Amino acid sequence: MDIVYHGKTKEFHLFNDDISYIIGIMPDGSPGQLYFGKRVHDREGYSRLIIREDRSMAVGLPSDERFSLEMNRSEYPSFGTSDMRHPAFELLYDNGSHVSAFKYMSHDIRDGKPGIEGLPALYTEKDDEAKTLKIVLSDELTGMELELFYTIYASHPVVARSVVFRNKGKEAVSLVRCMSLSLDLPDHDYIWMQFSGAWAREKYPVERKLDWGITAIASLRGHSSANANPFVILKRKHTDESAGEAIGLSLLYSGNFITQAEVDTYGTTRLMTGIHPERFLWEICPGGSFHSPEAVLVWTQNGLNDLSQTLHTLYRRRLCRGPWREKERPILLNNWEATMMDFDEEKILSIAKKGCEAGVELFVLDDGWFGARDDDTGGLGDWYVNTGKLPDGIAGLSRRIHDMGMKFGLWFEPEMVNPDSELYRAHPDWVLAVPGRDRSLGRHQMVLDMTKEEVQDYLYERMSSIISEADIDYVKWDMNRTISECFSIGRSAKEQGTVYHRYILAVYRLYERLIADFPELLFESCASGGARHDAGMLYYAPQAWGSDDTDAVERLKIQYGTSYGYPIASIGSHVSECPNQQTGRVCSIETRANVAYFGTFGYELDLNELSDEDFDKVRSQIAFMKKYRGLIQGGRFYRLLSPFEGNYCAWMVVSDDKSRAILAYYRVLAEPNPGHRRVKLQGLDPDMRYSTDEGEYYGSELMNIGIEISAKPDPSRRPEGDYYSRIIVMEGIQS
Ligand code: DGJ
Repeated sequence: MDIVYHGKTKEFHLFNDDISYIIGIMPDGSPGQLYFGKRVHDREGYSRLIIREDRSMAVGLPSDERFSLEMNRSEYPSFGTSDMRHPAFELLYDNGSHVSAFKYMSHDIRDGKPGIEGLPALYTEKDDEAKTLKIVLSDELTGMELELFYTIYASHPVVARSVVFRNKGKEAVSLVRCMSLSLDLPDHDYIWMQFSGAWAREKYPVERKLDWGITAIASLRGHSSANANPFVILKRKHTDESAGEAIGLSLLYSGNFITQAEVDTYGTTRLMTGIHPERFLWEICPGGSFHSPEAVLVWTQNGLNDLSQTLHTLYRRRLCRGPWREKERPILLNNWEATMMDFDEEKILSIAKKGCEAGVELFVLDDGWFGARDDDTGGLGDWYVNTGKLPDGIAGLSRRIHDMGMKFGLWFEPEMVNPDSELYRAHPDWVLAVPGRDRSLGRHQMVLDMTKEEVQDYLYERMSSIISEADIDYVKWDMNRTISECFSIGRSAKEQGTVYHRYILAVYRLYERLIADFPELLFESCASGGARHDAGMLYYAPQAWGSDDTDAVERLKIQYGTSYGYPIASIGSHVSECPNQQTGRVCSIETRANVAYFGTFGYELDLNELSDEDFDKVRSQIAFMKKYRGLIQGGRFYRLLSPFEGNYCAWMVVSDDKSRAILAYYRVLAEPNPGHRRVKLQGLDPDMRYSTDEGEYYGSELMNIGIEISAKPDPSRRPEGDYYSRIIVMEGIQS
């Protein structure tokens, strides 16, 4: 891995064993994108790719009309001179002009990777893991400076990018559009894949072919959302899970965002991602600066599984932080679907006790333990224990749970308040609202104005006191509505354009304060399920509740879709009761667990209500997960059969040394008189023999001939019925 600067031609070449990223300073002084893809030789001369030509209707430099930005590929394009596509940024100057002309001034190459204050970012543990290039540009007329950051890692085919605007001039300047990165690609032969959905059906992969015009996914909900997700893939026509070229683009940000691909009528593609420019305006005063969120580009020529595995490893090891980063996650039992808010200490202890008997390691008390909270119409914001339900407080309950030998976790929804709460009655101006206008409600709640220091301090004081007094091991941080009337009472008119961004910065800040005080605490983020399961959040909370939809069949799609951009160890997944509360479907306890294993794993039901037979199965499931979670959560995950394409779904994990693997396959509906269907495995050592409960096989057999997954017509057995699943463990035999 290296970053080489060729001074004569002003070219930068960032490369590692897999990829090259080449930038050249163009005749107008701005940086041009010359190449991104498979590693090429390092040499001077890639600036031949800069285009100079006569082209009707194009405009060019006064000194060389043949150079037009419109025909070239820019690193961080602006609008207003000779490029007619959407820009990466826009600065609004005092005289009403939006035109900037940033030119190369200097650069700096150093080992390692700097962090970004107040924002999530990839990091290094040792300086030789990565190199970072900073290109400094300046706009002579206004004194604005722009720094473009690029980090290349030695052992990951990724480039991380972010930008900083610095005002070195004399006038305040407004930043009204700020993408984290823009990448111009020479063609548009791509299929765009986004991961979108809604509550209870998060992150479904949606594909469309790029063509002239704009393809985009965005959120204006104040959070990344279940409807959109700040991760997209561009893949070639023939790329599949195991072969072919693809580019992934992941934004480390949890607020309003846009990711878009613009294809111009010359057939080039401009891909960009960043803070959504709608309602964004950040004034940068002389001496001030603004740092964008970070975005990560990943490249592969080995198919989508390889692309996902790169992100899984990178995010687990260099985005997630703290002691839980690569640790096996505790098997938890959450009371939400068992009791909702209707509980007292006795009921909770009886559920916890049964969990403990089964081998559960962490008991989590969900919503309803505080204030006057018996349903979702009241109490939110009053973070004082409801002693009617828990006479000895959270501390007393926590002690009893710890005495049983389990860890104890607690639910919070810090960012919200019910109008029917002591907090709202005392501070009606602590919410986001436009004076004189209606305050929209969602789940009977309003959004606290997290940008206010006093709100942050109240939440910090309440949460930290409870966490320390009650010796809490885990926090589920929920967020259950979209932001509306995004107006911060008391701020100036101009500052209102900063509120969406300041909001998410404040959420990150509160997390950071709690992490600093309680470094051992395990956070699970949640937003009505998976509405804020994004890369930004993983920096603070290494796991995220995957979805409120706990139906095993639905979870196949949700977990399959989520696995494209996020590690398996980050997906909160529980076995819940049947009929399922979201769909009414009834699946066996085996299938419910066979799906939930591929995540953090836990239970969300009253185990006392299970039959003895099912309870025994739960014990075995927990024992199984304890034995194999290191492999499942830390291994290489392969998608084999998509639940979006048929009646079957299959996936597998393989240990790094290929000596152990687990295959899971699922058949949604029973098939009468089926044919013999096989699934070919991936990632095994072809020469290794693996023992399974069906016999011994070489890796080469399992990967090329496959394993039969259709239910065998066996007249002596009753057919398995709908929602059938199987787990096959493969242990390599050392010869
Ligand atoms: C939404 C979450 O996704 C659920 O798991 C649960 O915590 C409820 N909120 C509680 O209100």
